[in-house]
Amino acid sequence: MGKKFGVFLSLLIVGVAMAAVFPYLSLDPARSRVTLDASFSLHYTVLVVHIGFALVALISGLFQFHQRFRVRYPQWHRALGRIYVASIMLSGLLGLVMTLYIDSFTKAMAFLTLSLLWLVTTWKAFRFAVNKQFREHRIWMIRSYAVTLVATSARLIVPICILLYLAMHGFHLPAGGREQMVAEILEVNIWIGLLVNLIVVEWFLLKGTKA
Ligand code: HEM
Repeated sequence: MGKKFGVFLSLLIVGVAMAAVFPYLSLDPARSRVTLDASFSLHYTVLVVHIGFALVALISGLFQFHQRFRVRYPQWHRALGRIYVASIMLSGLLGLVMTLYIDSFTKAMAFLTLSLLWLVTTWKAFRFAVNKQFREHRIWMIRSYAVTLVATSARLIVPICILLYLAMHGFHLPAGGREQMVAEILEVNIWIGLLVNLIVVEWFLLKGTKA
């Protein structure tokens, strides 16, 4: 990957994440874009802690794939790796808790699948590093980060889904207006992001094994 493209991709990843995280910086539950369940008093706290650790995972993970960084600063690679794994374990478990409070079954199943894949791929990658099986460690970390990046791809897909939705509805909004359109899109964007990221990452890994 070219240096310029790498910088562009990193800025895009951090930019999309920051835009999503922004409403939660105020720590004001009234600004939550997630519908909070009144029967779960800690819903907002769980959401904010999930977001905090997810952001740490997203940013710490970015450094890990830079070959020169890894070779020059192995002790930083190890420390950031531990931070990445611990953040995902916490954020992923909180993600699992929140899936219990998602009304839509389609959306809940998407987050459930995503949480489990996040925890499993990251844990496997960590165990391979501990056992000094570094080839397998690299492969599973790439898979883990591809799952982390669903947070980015699922959001980048939304404008494309809006265009497709409008095109398929003769450029008319549904009876429920813009809100209904967005709600319908948010039912499927995680599934699409997950599918696209997993196909891209497996294609990339397959290409690597052929060389
Ligand atoms: C990849 C594994 C992840 C899982 C399984 C996951 C899970 C969840 C769940 C279940 C929710 C609540 C959704 C709802 O109730 O409608 C949520 C919300 C959120 N997550 Fe994650 N998440 C993941 C990664 C990330 C990452 C990497 C970030 C980046 C910082 C992030 C930032 C957010 C934000 C900002 C929200 C609030 C969404 C909104 O305002 O609409 N998540 N996540």
